[in-house]
Amino acid sequence: MSLKINDTVTWVGKIDWELKKFHGDEYSTHKGSSYNSYLIRDEKTVLIDTVWEPFSREFIANLKKEIDIQKIDYIVINHSEVDHSGALVDLMEEIPNTPIYCTKSGVRILKGHYHKDWNFVEVKTGDTLDIGKHKLTFIEASMLHWPDTMFTYLSEENMLFSNDGFGQHYASEFMYNDKVDQAELYQEALKYYANILTPFSKQVVKKIEEILSFNLPIDMICPSHGIIWRDNPIQIVNKYLEWANEYKENQITIVYDSMWNATRRMAESIAEGITSTNKEVEIKLINSAKSDKNDIVVESFKSKIVLIGSSTINNGVLSSTASILEMLKGFRFRGKKAAAFGSYGWSGEATKIMTEELEKGGFEIINSGIKELWNPDEDALNRCREFGKTIVEAL
Ligand code: FEO
Repeated sequence: MSLKINDTVTWVGKIDWELKKFHGDEYSTHKGSSYNSYLIRDEKTVLIDTVWEPFSREFIANLKKEIDIQKIDYIVINHSEVDHSGALVDLMEEIPNTPIYCTKSGVRILKGHYHKDWNFVEVKTGDTLDIGKHKLTFIEASMLHWPDTMFTYLSEENMLFSNDGFGQHYASEFMYNDKVDQAELYQEALKYYANILTPFSKQVVKKIEEILSFNLPIDMICPSHGIIWRDNPIQIVNKYLEWANEYKENQITIVYDSMWNATRRMAESIAEGITSTNKEVEIKLINSAKSDKNDIVVESFKSKIVLIGSSTINNGVLSSTASILEMLKGFRFRGKKAAAFGSYGWSGEATKIMTEELEKGGFEIINSGIKELWNPDEDALNRCREFGKTIVEAL
């Protein structure tokens, strides 16, 4: 499959309908994904990015239906992660001397991945490549989300090839933002931002401001995953600025794991305490052992307050809780508050451990949390309801 975007640019990527996990098992892709590669035809022919290695042969076979690949003059690798560079090994066997344009870090990482001494051409922000009527301009975008990342801008067509930036793990035969379900699209775009770009929010803002300062007309943003933004493409840029700026909705997320339901009952009583004093705030109660971890990250990203609960086990926390805490610590959300709770039988360290981990993750700690011995009775559940009321005060 290929898709003619306009007289100059054709999409030659791969839609991966089956993909359910990405980055190993770190990222759930409920809606599949795509690896977007773009062929630009002018006096010179340019290929922007490739696809993940398992689709390498299929990609090259499709590309050959589109063009004699010996006629590709330049390859641009905006980002060397294997989902975009994976087909290079097979491709370069057929066109071994073709120059590969990428950043200095891109050269280092591509060599690290493939151990090949290809014909690399290092580029920096502002470097250009004339290809006939059109010109490519390269814009380094380090740490969005790897050190090597760059964007490529195509003049005349006013298209920004932004690689992972503004992408979504979202397989759709419609390919364009105006043709797909908007709720699904934004769910996947936000999930992508929360789970991949959040740690780099400061760089996101800086890079967007830099690109806007160039005053380049942008008619289309073409990411390396998901659909292409052609209808009011600046809408996703504005969303990124919103998400990068300590984004929160009027929401409290309560994430818990429970061995014999004591911590679950605590979680539900805390939620009751919250709703008894504030009926406007949305509460999401999620059992971390039974739920998708990336969806928990999304709900936490959307929240003003995150409450984490776990029973104490072996002087620590339950394994699903440890996993979520590790993820939240890595994402370094800003402008959010948190507290911990949990049941215990004798040693009872979990609440303190969770509080410390949340603090390390950059959360403002509301209080030292609440723990209850064995199975909570009505008095204990009332204490949890009162605890919920103190959480509302911190909103
Ligand atoms: Fe889609 Fe960072 O690779």
